[in-house]
Amino acid sequence: MCGIVGYIGDGQAVPILLESLKMLEYRGYDSAGVTVFNEKLETYKIAGRIKNLEEIIPENVSGNIGIGHTRWATHGKPETRNAHPHTSSDISVVHNGIIENYLELKERLIDQGYEFKSDTDTEVIAHLLHSKMSCDDKICLLDGLAQTVKELDGSYAIAALSNNDPDVIAFARKDSPLVIGIGNGSNYAASDVTAFLKHTKEVIFINDNEIGLLRPDSIEIYDLEGNSVSRDTETIEWDLEAAEKAGYEHFMLKEIHEQPTSIQNTFAGKLSELEGNVTLEEIYLKPDEVKRLRRATIIACGTSWNAGILGKYLFEKLAGLHTDVETASEFRYSNPVLCGEELTIAITQSGETADTLAAVRSSASYGCRSIAITNVVGSTITRESDSVLYTRAGPEIGVAATKTFTAQLMALYMLAINLGRTRGVISANEAKDLIVGIKKLPGQIQKVLSRKEEINECAVQFADKRDYFFIGRYLNYPVALEGALKLKEISYIHAEGYAAGELKHGPLALITDETPVVAIATKGHTYEKILSNIKEVKARDATVIAVADDDDTEIDKYVDVVIRVPPTHELLSPVLSSVTLQLLSYYTAHAKGCSIDKPRNLAKSVTVE
Ligand code: F6R
Repeated sequence: MCGIVGYIGDGQAVPILLESLKMLEYRGYDSAGVTVFNEKLETYKIAGRIKNLEEIIPENVSGNIGIGHTRWATHGKPETRNAHPHTSSDISVVHNGIIENYLELKERLIDQGYEFKSDTDTEVIAHLLHSKMSCDDKICLLDGLAQTVKELDGSYAIAALSNNDPDVIAFARKDSPLVIGIGNGSNYAASDVTAFLKHTKEVIFINDNEIGLLRPDSIEIYDLEGNSVSRDTETIEWDLEAAEKAGYEHFMLKEIHEQPTSIQNTFAGKLSELEGNVTLEEIYLKPDEVKRLRRATIIACGTSWNAGILGKYLFEKLAGLHTDVETASEFRYSNPVLCGEELTIAITQSGETADTLAAVRSSASYGCRSIAITNVVGSTITRESDSVLYTRAGPEIGVAATKTFTAQLMALYMLAINLGRTRGVISANEAKDLIVGIKKLPGQIQKVLSRKEEINECAVQFADKRDYFFIGRYLNYPVALEGALKLKEISYIHAEGYAAGELKHGPLALITDETPVVAIATKGHTYEKILSNIKEVKARDATVIAVADDDDTEIDKYVDVVIRVPPTHELLSPVLSSVTLQLLSYYTAHAKGCSIDKPRNLAKSVTVE
């Protein structure tokens, strides 16, 4: 997730762009840049935050047209050369999104003589646009951009400038947000309204597959066939703080709602339905090494550790790979028996958790190869691991992990399928079934989100309880663990996540009519077993809230409340159930008036032991 901005009008572009970028910094902050039309295009960019950018732009740069970008790296490290804008001769481009076919386009453009200066997917847009505009002298920036986006697979919000068309900003959108701000003698384009809310509240939201032009006093919008599109202006009622959260009351709620996109971004360009495989070019393990692996050790803390438990089940089922899941803070002080033929998988959204880093260093001292799953490009874990599989969830501001957790699950599904195919444990058809299911998840998450009012009602009903239990079996066990962790950290209700079969070995003593029990009871081979566990707690008078499939007509007989999720492949249901439980925690904490985005005693990145 990055932030883009464009300004055209009678004011000085540099201060307006810098101010807008600061407002968008929450979307990404590892590097930034601007291009301004100062008789010709001048580009300034640098790694780090907007204040670094401010320091390198000379005071005498003047110009009334410009574009800018604040980056959250997805392709290429957070270095100056990877910062946007990306240029190709007399063209400059900023982009938010992911170009899935960039490698293919890059090879073609290199053959045509283009030199690439960055590792980003965006640079192909600049060169492709240049190649289109220079093929035929008469082609304008708008037509060039229309031809360019027709060749792009993936998601994009683009703003582009050209020396040859110096009076306009061209823009295009598909699957990444883009909104136009209508000023008085000036116009703006941005990833969201916060960028220009100080100047105008009159906006036009650009739809997918639309492109257009900004001039100081006019806005043109077209479809990809060149037909003009007319659109009503909307007035934004939010104040700045609400706009930063896209109108949601908390970052956590916004981030829960971003999951259809964060999941899609994480798998974009990697799933091949036709071949029944997942391509992970970033994993530097030769097929022979993958086949020889005897064991995997997943190392993580907190929510990432919960994701690791699901990872264990997936690696064992899909890749036939014995997997242990270690709590990082324990692993470093234990005496692991490792011989070097094991694979270490470190899961950490921040990439900076001190215990996880120390544990990975310890496993490396035994000669184990390692893969890091992280959300932060250039974080410390990326330098400590042999390979890195990035989740592309974008920055997460709420302390409680939500979209980074489901993106981690997605990374684990992809890795398990990839290893399983190489090790010959699953067939192309089995992989294909999973891939088809994965592709449906963003739409199914949307469906779960549309049911938030029911979940809110359930949360409010039990918000005064002191203790909660979450139970699940097999793949739903990590869902139960994560459901309990989420509830305790933001609502301060004591909550325990349990493997449902373990209840009778102790915790059942705590179940009373004052203890709500959330049972994750989606269909699968342990369904009958969880029904028995539900009966056990019902017999102790507990109120049972079940998370169950839409088409489950049996569950209502046994439980008090049912929260429904769309049915999916058995292995994939944890993603949908987890989103449901995130909402349950959120609304419980909300009903109790807790500090949701910044829960007491907790930090987003735990860099101390
Ligand atoms: C819970 C949460 C924490 C983190 C844990 C590890 O919502 O966010 O439990 O999961 O501190 O952090 P990372 O993943 O950054 O290593």
